[in-house]
Amino acid sequence: MRRIPKQTALILGCLILGMQFIPIAKRSENGKAPGRHMQETIDPQVGAILDRSCEDCHSNHTRWPWYSHVAPISWLLNRDVTKGRNKLDFSEWSREPVSANARMEICDAVSGGSMPLRGYTLLHGDAKLSEQDVNLICDWASVTEAQASAASSNAILTKTTGDR
Ligand code: HEC
Repeated sequence: MRRIPKQTALILGCLILGMQFIPIAKRSENGKAPGRHMQETIDPQVGAILDRSCEDCHSNHTRWPWYSHVAPISWLLNRDVTKGRNKLDFSEWSREPVSANARMEICDAVSGGSMPLRGYTLLHGDAKLSEQDVNLICDWASVTEAQASAASSNAILTKTTGDR
């Protein structure tokens, strides 16, 4: 009776050790051009929330903790980051303006509670969004493209006149 758990542990140990030698087909490396953080790209307050809670899976700024290199966790995390970046990649945002649609999709995901992924917030408590965070994101999302560009040219105007 007492030998069975020992053998099971040994077999499990060997399996986990063996897994470390199975390469990940295509590791989601952080590209050479990680792009800017959202805080520098969009509304700073909303940007800071997205940087804190979403950046690990939706940009090239992924922080890979030590356990992200240990199979089988590495396989799962790598899959999440690949899928997440395919759906939404903040690193491309500094080049393209953010469409109202893309912003609305973000508001939907956070207000519906599907994002950030639950498994992620278990490990990263600070990534959980408060009601206020969700409201800020959705206010930013509901500004139309015309309003957004008017706001940014106003900001430029005030800045240039302010400099004089
Ligand atoms: C742990 C990784 C992870 C984090 C953190 C994360 N996402 Fe995602 N996100 C994903 C994955 C994976 C998908 C693709 C889901 C699918 O294909 O089923 C996704 C999909 C999405 C989509 C596409 C629509 C949808 O629901 O499938 C949006 C929008 C989105 N995420 C927004 C966010 C926002 C905003 C945050 C931060 C508040 C965030 N995500 C945080 C992994 C993550």
